[in-house]
Amino acid sequence: MEHQGRTAFITGGARGLGFGFAKALAAEGARIAIADIDAAEGERAAARLRERGAEAIALACDVANEESVDEAIVAAEAGLGGVDILINNAGLLTRHYSRDFSALPRADIRACLDVNIMGVINCAVSARKSMARRGGGTIVNIASIAGYSVAGAYGLSKLAVRGLTISLAREFAPDGIRVNGVAPGLMATDTVMADLPREMVDHFVNDLQLIKRQGQPQDIVDAVLFLCSSRAGFITGETIKVAGGFPLEV
Ligand SMILES: NC(=O)c1ccc[n+]([C@@H]2O[C@H](COP(=O)([O-])OP(=O)(O)OC[C@H]3O[C@@H](n4cnc5c(N)ncnc54)[C@H](O)[C@@H]3O)[C@@H](O)[C@H]2O)c1
Repeated sequence: MEHQGRTAFITGGARGLGFGFAKALAAEGARIAIADIDAAEGERAAARLRERGAEAIALACDVANEESVDEAIVAAEAGLGGVDILINNAGLLTRHYSRDFSALPRADIRACLDVNIMGVINCAVSARKSMARRGGGTIVNIASIAGYSVAGAYGLSKLAVRGLTISLAREFAPDGIRVNGVAPGLMATDTVMADLPREMVDHFVNDLQLIKRQGQPQDIVDAVLFLCSSRAGFITGETIKVAGGFPLEV
C-alpha cells in the first residue's frame, strides 16, 4: 500500500472530487483529514471512511481564513501525526463565478478569489512546516480547464492556481516537497450536474471533447493518485489536464 503511514489533508473533502480523493488515498493506507467548511457533511464523510476501516477525522475549516487553516493543520498533526499529502481541492465553482466581471458583485469576485487562490496559499504555507518536519511531502492543486480560457473570476482563479503550482514547486523544493496540479474538464459531480443545463453538458461532451463520454470523478482521482505516488517522484511544477482532449494547445 503506497500511502501506508502517511497522512493526507484534503480540503473540500466532504463531497464530490474531494471525497473521491479521500476514499482512494484511504484505500492506499493513508490517514485522512477532511477539511471542509461544511462541518456536518465533513463528519459524515469521515464516518463513511471509518466504516471502510480507515483512520479519518473531519476538521471544520474555511480555507480562505488563515487562522482557520492553521488551526486545522495543527489539529491534523495532533490527531493524525502530521501532514504528508495536501490536496488543495476546496473551491467555489458554480457558473455564477464565471459571469462577466461587470455582472458579478465585487463581494462575490473577492469570495471566489479568496477561496480558490488564497485558500491554496493558506493551506500550502501552513502544511509546509508539517511536511518539512517529516522530511518532505507532496501537494496537488486542483485547477480547471477554465484556467485556459479564463472567463470571469473563476477562470482567473484557476489560471492563478496553475501559476501557484509553479511558484510553490520552486519555493518548496528545498524541503523535499513536490507541487503539481490537475486541471479537470467537465466532471459529473453533484454540484456541477445541478448547476449546468443538460444542453451545455452535451455540447461539451459531443462537440468540444475528443473523447466522447462524460468525465467521471474517478478520472481525476487516478491522476491525483499518480501525482501523489513515487511513480511521479521526478515530476514537480506541472499541471496535467484531464479533460477528454479539450482544450488542446501547444
Ligand atoms: N466538477 C468539475 O467539473 C470540476 C471541473 C474543474 C475543476 N473542478 C474543481 O474541483 C474542485 C472540486 O469540485 P467539485 O465538483 O468536487 O465541487 P463540490 O462542490 O462537490 O465540492 C467542493 C467542496 O468544497 C467545500 N468548500 C467550499 N468552500 C470552502 C471553503 N472556503 N473552505 C473549505 N471548504 C470549502 C464545499 O463545502 C464542498 O464540500 C474545485 O476546486 C473545482 O473548482 C471541478
